[in-house]
Amino acid sequence: MRVCVIGTGYVGLVTGVCLSHIGHDVICVDNNAEKVKLMQSGQSPIFEPGLSELMQSSMEASRLTFTTDLGAGVSHGDILFIAVGTPPLPTGESDTRYVEAVARGIGEHLNGGYKVIVNKSTVPIGSGDWVRMIVMDGMAERQQVPVGAGAPADKPKMPTFDVVSNPEFLREGSAVYDTFNPDRIVLGGSNPKAIAMMKELYEPIVERQFAEDSSVPQVPVLVTDLSSAEMVKYASNAFLATKISFINEVANICDRVGADVVQVAQGIGLDSRIGSKFLQAGIGWGGSCFPKDVSALVHTADDYGYEAQLLKSTIDVNTRQRLLSLEKLQHILKILKGKTVGLLGLTFKPDTDDMRDAPSLILIEHLNRLGAKVKAYDPIVSQSGMRNGMTGVIVETDVERLADGCDALVLVTDWKQFKDLDYTKMAGLMNTPNLIDGRNFLDRKALENAGFTYVGVGH
Ligand code: UDX
Repeated sequence: MRVCVIGTGYVGLVTGVCLSHIGHDVICVDNNAEKVKLMQSGQSPIFEPGLSELMQSSMEASRLTFTTDLGAGVSHGDILFIAVGTPPLPTGESDTRYVEAVARGIGEHLNGGYKVIVNKSTVPIGSGDWVRMIVMDGMAERQQVPVGAGAPADKPKMPTFDVVSNPEFLREGSAVYDTFNPDRIVLGGSNPKAIAMMKELYEPIVERQFAEDSSVPQVPVLVTDLSSAEMVKYASNAFLATKISFINEVANICDRVGADVVQVAQGIGLDSRIGSKFLQAGIGWGGSCFPKDVSALVHTADDYGYEAQLLKSTIDVNTRQRLLSLEKLQHILKILKGKTVGLLGLTFKPDTDDMRDAPSLILIEHLNRLGAKVKAYDPIVSQSGMRNGMTGVIVETDVERLADGCDALVLVTDWKQFKDLDYTKMAGLMNTPNLIDGRNFLDRKALENAGFTYVGVGH
């Protein structure tokens, strides 16, 4: 099928590349000329395992191109994905101006045939109808341009289109895997023709032709109305964030009563009604989705006269959780002024270079405020140009330089490399070998044998 993806951020680029990989003819549009140039040369602007390889092979097979020309993209695609950012405003609402600009632009360029316009961006509930309205506005504006320039017969044929909501559930660091191995595909819309086209688009994925394990049953496709599909996205993220805040709260109680949250999580996770995933207690959730989506849902509820108390608590527990390692540092080191703290990991989770809403940033800010010197090592940040862009923290290029002279280490990100460091050597380089394991990721006994005082989270 002919596809156009507008916006080559995280979601757009992964969607475009993966759809081209399964055989569709994809044009990706972005208004950032520099980024488009980079992608045209076969380079991915984001770090995501497996993405560059797929991108290059699709480009070689001429199924994937990049352009800044929205008009070219719109006329190419039978299915047009809107995948631009909806960053959070200070109020917690989503900033939808990029979606609006793209919807208007699509309207201005629509000409002829039937198109399905897909909302892939995480937009506020009710945006499907709003996008339809903006596209119509764009079409009307366009038809006003050549005022008096032609007889009605010259007017372009009135295009027809439908808006479909198709939320994504990709995790950073495993986005390619998640695209080919989804738990479900959600399609929100009312026109059977549009839904049929979307089903055709995803057929190879539904049939698990590109899945790791093709013996598992077909991917379920859930067809809903527009608003319900939009709500599925928010409710999924809010549920997962709540699950993490829940286990973090349990961890804090474990700390006080002397229970071990890792064993507790195992025990409750074995109940199939609960499930074992997303029960890792730690330093709190971050990233580009959970913080933004939970706040936006609270805000939407508020707009409609409902106070989302549970979700507000989900956020409050997380805000407190992020400062827990600071409290633990104060407990061990007492005065932090003049002390040196080393952070193992900076990104909000492993296998990504994303620093958005990363718990490390809040920790750095507070440690600076309290007069501590902060150093860090992160497998990606330390090896890239990103290390020069960090403020309030000295980013070291290896773990021994990090450990040198530290009064405590805090494991912030559970990068698998951190399992196998030479902790004995690191302990020897530190002023006082303390380690706060913000992810309950390391082996307490091994760390203690290496000379560390080890502190976990409810563990
Ligand atoms: C999330 C959703 O999983 C995905 O479906 C959605 O499309 C986007 O948001 P992502 O932000 O990439 O994906 O990361 P995810 O792996 O879900 O982790 C989110 C945060 O929760 C991270 O900060 C992670 O460290 C934290 N987390 C996750 C925990 O603290 N404990 C857990 O058990 C799981």
